[in-house]
Amino acid sequence: MRYTGLIERYRDRLPVGDKTRLISLGEGNTPLIRLENIPCEMGTQVKLYIKYEGLNPTGSFKDRGMTMAVTKAVESGSKAIICASTGNTSAAAAAYAARAGIKAFVIIPEGKIALGKLAQAMIHGSTIIQIKGNFDDGMQLVKEVAEFAPVSIVNSINPFRLQGQKTAAFEIIEELGHAPDYHCLPVGNAGNITAHWMGYTEYFDAGKASSTPTMLGYQAEGAAPFIHGSKVEKPETIATAIRIGNPQSWDKAIKLSKDSNGWFDCFSDKEILATQKLLTEKEGIFCEPASAISVAGALKDIESGKIPDGSSVVCTLTGHGLKDPDTAISQCDTDAMININPTLEEVKKAILENM
Ligand code: F0G
Repeated sequence: MRYTGLIERYRDRLPVGDKTRLISLGEGNTPLIRLENIPCEMGTQVKLYIKYEGLNPTGSFKDRGMTMAVTKAVESGSKAIICASTGNTSAAAAAYAARAGIKAFVIIPEGKIALGKLAQAMIHGSTIIQIKGNFDDGMQLVKEVAEFAPVSIVNSINPFRLQGQKTAAFEIIEELGHAPDYHCLPVGNAGNITAHWMGYTEYFDAGKASSTPTMLGYQAEGAAPFIHGSKVEKPETIATAIRIGNPQSWDKAIKLSKDSNGWFDCFSDKEILATQKLLTEKEGIFCEPASAISVAGALKDIESGKIPDGSSVVCTLTGHGLKDPDTAISQCDTDAMININPTLEEVKKAILENM
């Protein structure tokens, strides 16, 4: 049967009626890829999987939440949606609003949005409001303006967003046949880690899994409120997706971390980029910097033994690498590119010298 998106697939577990018009772009059903080369080189028996959420229609996990949020906005008669965003939410909001035939307003921090995400928000025809401030400032403005203007908020404070995003946990359980022992995620607002925990506990309660995973949340060193135990006023990191100092799902994330015996940790920009490169070069998987932090965390905790050998571990790669081409290129040696005349002789030479 043709796959038509996660609402259709998980209709019985989502708050939609038989007559609800579904706003879908075929999101969800993303690959669960077992890493081979990195664990082999580390000499670990940990079964390490990647949930490649970058393969959603707009290139990030946000589509899971946005299909629900926009479906419900349209159902309630809303003609416009609004969000603050570090980029991916704005891309998803713009695309799903276009699909629904409604307006999208997106508030983004000027100069701090990866190029691919900006291109998406622009090409889908959203109204882009750039602020001289960060995501947290934008989020505050969205909450305030929604009280006065006829717009539906589609940030993860919208409960339908988390409902949609919880389906990633369903897919993982169905594919593995059980819940993993550990689930590693990058954490910004902490909406996604909350949604995953909702999904895992829902399937556990329904008897569809016999356990729930330990939830591990990783942040960028310069934007690590969960490590400091308080808000960060001026968050800064190359992983712009998670450049957030005041997480909206703070309480839920603290609680789920305790309930699942989990922990938080943080990584420097250098470590984040090194892991992004490791995944591209050793496994052929290209994710954006923020996403790589889940793998940075898993590898560190496997090495230290905090994650015991033999465990099954899922790392969510939240966004595609093509979202942020500038950061990718800046990590590579452009001098290593070979410029030649289009002759057989010169191509041959280039190949033989570089075998
Ligand atoms: N990874 C990526 C690629 C993201 O875009 C985000 C959040 C996260 C991780 C963190 O998820 O906030 O649920 O803890 N991006 C939001 C945005 C803030 O506006 O696109 P979270």
